[in-house]
Parts: sequence; C-alpha cells; structure tokens
Amino acid sequence: MNPDSLRAQLLAWYDAGARDLPWRVGPADHAAGVRADPYRVWLSEVMLQQTTVPHATPYFLKFTARWPAVVDLANEDDGEVMAAWAGLGYYARARNLLACARAVARDHCGVFPDTEEGLRSLPGLGPYTAAAVGAIAFDLPTNVVDGNVERVMARLFAVEQPLPDGKPELKRLAATLVRDERPGDWAQALMDLGATVCRPKGPLCDRCPIADHCAGLATGAPETYPRKTKKAALPHRHGVAYVLTRGDEVALVRRPPKGLLGGMLALPTSEWRTERWSDEEAARAAPADADWRGVGEVEHGFTHFTLTLRLLRAEGDAEDVIWSPRRDLDALPSVFLKAARAGLTNLL
Ligand code: ADE
Repeated sequence: MNPDSLRAQLLAWYDAGARDLPWRVGPADHAAGVRADPYRVWLSEVMLQQTTVPHATPYFLKFTARWPAVVDLANEDDGEVMAAWAGLGYYARARNLLACARAVARDHCGVFPDTEEGLRSLPGLGPYTAAAVGAIAFDLPTNVVDGNVERVMARLFAVEQPLPDGKPELKRLAATLVRDERPGDWAQALMDLGATVCRPKGPLCDRCPIADHCAGLATGAPETYPRKTKKAALPHRHGVAYVLTRGDEVALVRRPPKGLLGGMLALPTSEWRTERWSDEEAARAAPADADWRGVGEVEHGFTHFTLTLRLLRAEGDAEDVIWSPRRDLDALPSVFLKAARAGLTNLL
C-alpha cells in the first residue's frame, strides 16, 4: 500500500463531498484560509464523543446560539448548562465542559491554547479531544483516533488483534498516514469515511475512495473487522421511579452533585439494586403517602449497567420536591424523561 496515494484519494473524496456540518469549515473555505473556531470545534468534539452527528447537531446549535463564545459559557450558571445538556447523557462531561470553559476564560483570556500540550493541560480535555481540536482548529499534525478511525484502520490493514487490546496498534497504524499537509482535513476525511462509507455494519465498499488499498476488503469479509474480544454481559439493576402529580405538575428532585447523573433533575426513585422490587417494598420506599399504582416499567442502558425502573403513579402532595409543569420535563436526563413519559401515559 502506498500511503501517499491513499491520502491523495481520500482527500480528493473529501474535497468533492465533505459533509456540511455546523462546526465545520469545509475544504474549499479552509483552502481559502478560513479557520475553524476552536470553541466550536471543542464543543462539537465533546458532544460527539457520546453521540452521533444527527443527535448532537441540535444541541450544538442550541449551545452556540445561547453561548456564542467560550466566555459566555464560562459565565453561565451550572444548572442552566446541565439542563441544556440533558439528553446528551454522561453528565460528568457537562461538568468537565464548564470546568474547561472556565479555565480557558480565567487562565487563557478566553483563547484556546494552540498546541496539543496546551490543550491537554485544560481540565477534562483528554488525548483524543486535544488531538482533534489541534488538527481541526489549528492544523497541527496530530493523530486523531476515535472508534471510527479505529474501525477504518482495522479494515484497511486487516488487523487480527482484537479490541480493546489492539487499540495501540490501530493508533500506531493511523499515525503512519498523518502528514504535515492538511491535518485538519485529513482527520475529518477519516471521520466522514468512517461515518458514511466504512460503517460499522454494512460498509459501502463499492463507494470507498480507498478500496484499492484495503486489506480487509481483500479478505472478502471487511465487515468482520475490527475483531473484538467477547464482552462480559453488563450488570443489571432494578429500581422504582415515582411519578407523583399535582394537577399539571410533576414532582422532581435534584440528584446529589456527585455520582451518576449528579446534579441533574430526576424523578424520585428508590435505591437501584440487583433484586427486583415488589409492589409492597416499592410503596414503602415512596417519597410520599399516596395511593400508588403500578403503571409498568421502562428499561434503560447506561455505559456500565442496564436498569429496569418500575413505575408507580399517584396524585398527591409531597415535601422537599420540585414541582415542575409537564411541558418542562424535556430538561430531564433521558432515563427519567422516558420514565416520566411512560408513567404519565400508561394507564395500566
Ligand atoms: N465525529 C467526531 N468528531 C467529528 C467531527 N469533527 N466531525 C464529524 N464527525 C465527528
């Protein structure tokens, strides 16, 4: 395989059809000297680490409309940012996001550092994000390797070593393709290829601009890369979520600042444990005395475990809760939004 002809083919494909993304400076503008805003690049990367482009895009537009510069975000109250983040999941990221914005505002006069080391010194900004912001915003020849790029490399080089142990090898292979020319376009071309052509399932090899270099395609089964070590099943937990209404309002609580979904609004819940909850136990753990009725359950997958939440519904009053109009429930994290919607509509 000739790395330079591979690069030329992929970059030409990117020039012809780069995805139009709200945080992106397209290849033609970039060639004309337009530079991406590091704040927007950083924000998009943090969002995209946990979700897909279609899901992240409305959040990105909402954040940048409301907080057009990093200092605007830095000056915002934690609660406002956490609420705006709701639905993106993994709330530690939102807390890191604010910590990073405030460090840029306070320690760097609101200007992102323009070296990989400088970026790495910011709170919550890991090696992937530093490499991505370095390449896309500052055209540094960094090696930007996320799950998509790992998949592209595993196929291109038909790497037999399974993930996760094979990660360093995939990173080393990706580095062999990085050059000083157009590092930002290169990183984004690889991302586009991974997202639209070299897809996890059903890669579109007949549309791939670098198919003639691909050792995985030559094996006849490119979709079987990257190899993976069989995963242990995730642990499962059980809890009860209480949907207490007072007319049009629903009782919410704020979760403790540390831990899973820390600081977020939530439905009152029981403890989450390995055993199921019986109706009697569930009623005993309820946040208020009321005529609780079972209205089904919902399932939710977190990164490290899966959860079944039994839903109990009642009309009544309670102390130490935050009464919220039903139409405001969109600020809830996905698991509670799902539970609240089901609890309010199920009439079992
Ligand atoms: N996935 C991760 N970062 C991305 C980016 N900057 N553009 C498109 N997809 C991405």
